[in-house]
This record gives sequence, structure tokens and C-alpha cells, in this order.
Amino acid sequence: MDRIRISGGRRLNGSIPISGAKNATLPLMIASLLTEDTLVLDNVPRLADVNLLQRILGNHGVDVMVGGKRLGETAYEGQTLHISAARIVDLTAPYELVSRMRASFWVIAPLVARMGEARVSMPGGCAIGTRPVDLLIMALQRLGAKIEIDGGYVVASARDGLKGAEIDFPKVTVSGTHTALMAASLARGTTVIRNAAREPEIKDVADCLNKMGARINGAGTAEIVVEGVARLGGARHRVVPDRIETGTYAMAVAMTGGDVMLENARAELLQAALDVLAKAGLEYNETNRGLRVARNGGPLASVDVSTAPFPGFPTDLQAQFMALMSRADGTSRITETIFENRFMHVQELARLGARIHLEGETATVEGVERLKGAPVMATDLRASVSLVIAALAAEGETMVNRVYHLDRGFERLEDKLAACGAAIERIAG
Ligand code: EPZ
Repeated sequence: MDRIRISGGRRLNGSIPISGAKNATLPLMIASLLTEDTLVLDNVPRLADVNLLQRILGNHGVDVMVGGKRLGETAYEGQTLHISAARIVDLTAPYELVSRMRASFWVIAPLVARMGEARVSMPGGCAIGTRPVDLLIMALQRLGAKIEIDGGYVVASARDGLKGAEIDFPKVTVSGTHTALMAASLARGTTVIRNAAREPEIKDVADCLNKMGARINGAGTAEIVVEGVARLGGARHRVVPDRIETGTYAMAVAMTGGDVMLENARAELLQAALDVLAKAGLEYNETNRGLRVARNGGPLASVDVSTAPFPGFPTDLQAQFMALMSRADGTSRITETIFENRFMHVQELARLGARIHLEGETATVEGVERLKGAPVMATDLRASVSLVIAALAAEGETMVNRVYHLDRGFERLEDKLAACGAAIERIAG
């Protein structure tokens, strides 16, 4: 298994191209199942999760053509996928594939909406929480799908098609909102989704669906109205920049000091995180190239945060922020409200010398003068990158093990950081 070796203590200077968002790319690729025409996606990141989803869609009969490099493009340009679900030959998403990536469960929505039937494995457990799919199932049932659980599979059927309905989510759920949006797009009549997730990735998927001929209004707000249509067509869509990747590199610069241009990044996609980082001592300004972030010698102040659905502080930046606060002046309190088990990084950060006390859903972080390099273990995608951020500021060498977690969601992480002066390299396993 690959590992990443980091020698800490170097400032970061230069520029980092921000890739397309993983959490928009996955539902966008799944939305291709809604039409027999071709969906073209630009700015698609090269990630393990994207490759795995390509395989999962292929299992249903979907052809994916990856566009080659175009004249003038650099190695850092996102890839272009031409996705055609003209013939869906298999309505089953098997356990061995779905269990490797939870988001693949979302294929249930376009399959039952377009084909009237779907058999999708339950995703199973996850390192960061129980993560049930009861609200996704509730949304499909509201739209008229009959649901049975059979041998670990959710079997959804709607022989006469889905029918528009009112869907009130008892809690904000990104996966539930994606599922409702995709299914309602081909349902007869009007659907109203209340307490919908407002994440930028939801808006990006709705924009793409509207290009395919859907009639969606209000995406990005808590109430979305969908007028169902009989058929969706093809379209071309550019994936929104990755706000979590943006926030991660901004925190790396805040941790090490330095001055970096995050190309293509957009402040409004992560304003809550930028507000917190400004309080901690990071300077940032938006330019036509992206977001410039810098910290030049000023103190790193401790700031309390509580994760929340968008536009609140994203849970996917919680671990990275904890690494940052481990070097801040004073004590900060970090509360995780979305996932019940998203503190796997605490013990690994403690191996680098961080002082973190856990109580229920709150971690109290006492900032320390210095961190010291050590071998550490990645446990999930965001926890693993928090270890990289801590290692960039730690004295001496850190070896991060099980970096396959990182490859799921960060494109060319070590190349991007090395280009800004970090002493970081991948050790092939
Ligand atoms: C999406 O997960 C993201 N994944 C997650 O990013 C992100 O952390 C999360 O949204 C919150 O922002 C993708 O987009 C692929 P939810 P999702 O449905 O959709 C509970 C990463 O690191 N819930 O909004 O699964 C659930 O257990 C990943 O990139 C139910 O109870 O999150 C959680 O506590 C990690 N029943 C809360 O709601 C349901 O049916 C929010 O979950 C569905 C969810």
C-alpha cells in the first residue's frame, strides 16, 4: 500500500489548481442514467471514486468515453467524460460494488424513475457514522415507488411510473435531496421538496438536470419545486470547483504560513469556512484567477466551530480545521453535529503531539508550540488529509499510511503541495 512521507516546517508559496468537486461529480455521473442521450461532463477530477463509479455505471450498461487532452490543455485540466446510458441492461447494483462507495446507492433513483425498477444493495456501515438510507427510501415511497428489502438489497418498483408529491425531510440530507431531485424530474406532476439540502453540489446537479430538460426551481434554497417531464435529453455541463479541496489547501497555508493562489476556487462556495479562517489569522482575497490565501507570520488564533449543513461550516473540513487548531494560540472547541463518529483523526493527531480532549460530540483542542513527526494511520478521506496538514507543520518526518483513503477524494495531492515547496513524496507500496 502506498504511503506518503512528509518533512515538515516549510512555508507554502505558489499556485494550486482546484479540481472539479468530487461530491458534484458523483451525482452528476449518476444522473446520466436518467436519459438515453449522451451527457458530457467537463472538469471531472481524476479520483479513485470516479473510476469506481465508472465501473458501477458500466455494470448497468453505461458507456463512458474519456476525452483526450486538447491542444493547449495542461496535465492539471479536469477530464471530460462522455456518458451514454442509451441501453440499461442490468437493474441491479451489486453488494461488492456498492459496499465500496456509499454514493453508488443513489443509482436507485434514476433507475426506478426511468426503468420502473431497481435492485440496489444497501451500502452497509461507514467509518464516520451509521449513515442509514431511510430518508432516501422515504422520498422514493412518497413519489409512489413500492419498496421491499430482500437479502440486503432495496428493491424499488414503479411500473406505472413515479408521481409528483410533497417530500418533507425531517433533517437536512444531501443524499436524500439528490435522490428526490433525480426521481422527481421524471415523475408525473409536481414535487415539492421541503427542508432540502442547500449544498452547492445540489445546485450544480439541478443546473445540469435543467440543461437536460428538467424543470427544477429553488435549488440552493430549503424549498425546491420540480415539475416532472416525460423525458430528459443530453447536455454538456462543467463540474463546480471543489470547495472542500479549496478549504483544505487554505488550511494548509494557514498552518505552514505562506502565500498561495487557489486557481478556479470561488469564495461563496465556502464562505462560512473562510470567515472562521479569517478569525484564525488567514488573509484571503478573491481575484479573477481564484482565491488568494496567505498567512505571513501573524499568530494563529483559536476559534470555536460547530459543523452544520450548508451554508454552515462543512463537516468535510472539520478534521482539517482540528489539525490547524492543534497549533493555535489558546483553546478551541470543535463540535461535530452531522456524523456521530467523525473523530477518528483525534488519536492520530495526538501521535504528532496534539492535545485534544473528546467529550461527546465536542473536541477541546489545546494549541501546542510544536508538533513532531511520527508514523500515522489514515482512517477515512478527510481524516487522512488532516494528518497531512499537521505533518506539513510538524518538526521532522511523518509517514502517512493507507493513503488510498486520500486518493478517493484528492487529485494529485502530493504534486500540488510539492509544487508550492512542501517536502512531500509518495512511497509506492
Ligand atoms: C454527503 O454525504 C457527502 N458525500 C459527504 O461527504 C458529506 O459529509 C455529507 O453529504 C454532509 O455534507 C457525498 O456527497 C458523496 P447526508 P451524505 O445524507 O449525502 C443522516 C466526503 O468526505 N441520514 O447529508 O451521505 C446521516 O447519517 C463525504 O466527501 C439519515 O439519517 O450525507 C447524517 O448523519 C463524507 N438518513 C446526516 O443525515 C438518511 O437516509 C447527513 O447525511 C440519509 C442521511
